[in-house]
Amino acid sequence: MAENKNLRVTVPMLRAKKEAGEKIVALTAYDFPVARILDDAGIDLILVGDSLGMVVLGYETTIPVTMDEMIHHTKPVVRAARRALVVGDMPYFSFHLSEEATLANASRFIKEAGARGVKVEGASPRRLRMIESLIEAEIPVMGHVGLTPQSIHHLGRFKVQGVELAEAKKIIRDAENLEKAGVFAVVLECMPQEVARIVTERLAVPTIGIGAGPHCDGQILVFHDMVGCEGGYLPKFVKKYADLEATFHKAVGAYKDDVRSGAFPGEEHSYHLKPEVARALRSGKRGR
Ligand code: KIV
Repeated sequence: MAENKNLRVTVPMLRAKKEAGEKIVALTAYDFPVARILDDAGIDLILVGDSLGMVVLGYETTIPVTMDEMIHHTKPVVRAARRALVVGDMPYFSFHLSEEATLANASRFIKEAGARGVKVEGASPRRLRMIESLIEAEIPVMGHVGLTPQSIHHLGRFKVQGVELAEAKKIIRDAENLEKAGVFAVVLECMPQEVARIVTERLAVPTIGIGAGPHCDGQILVFHDMVGCEGGYLPKFVKKYADLEATFHKAVGAYKDDVRSGAFPGEEHSYHLKPEVARALRSGKRGR
């Protein structure tokens, strides 16, 4: 499929990319400047992930992230994205209480923030019913199976999922059920590549992998991880494409030294009065 840089990426286009064997490229973003860079670079899908909580807001897990925080961060991403498909991540407990509450929360991403889809973690029967009602309300949904970080208290720690036969079969079944429910794509997180390959071969909708090997239809990473602004811990599946934390440390250290030594601001960073105004100002009386 020839890439048209001006054409907005849509949900059906992702399916067409899978059919054409063209990889889908996705990243997370939580603000305007990063979303603008990703959009300019031709990233297909920008996820405003609830990883926001850990990456930007300093929470220990994604559990505390609220709907208001997600909407606040989705708005600038939507403003920046002229081409990419922006998907908002439904935070913990925004899709657990009732169909009404789930619809009300998901519709905020679409109506208030301007996202063009939402992502929901998990595939339990109740979750599938919620997903079906979102799709029935014309809200495109992306599924998410394997390691689902909102299940952290259940899992104990972030670890590879689907290693044992029963677990692997469950991931495959969950992904198939999500497709039946009508999702437009499924995120496969942190699982053996053999499992992701089977899912990818069985589904007609695209799979987007994170720590799920090379056979997925697309890949997603957390932006701050792949540019090295992650605070020290990087999962094995992340490739670091830059070391922004080192760059930022260097810049901030140089600024501190310059301010302390008086080297900043220099003449080139300063404004001047016209000489006669400066003279009058200096010789004028105090006060008025
Ligand atoms: O919250 C997030 O960023 C995610 C991606 C890692 C898929 O769910």
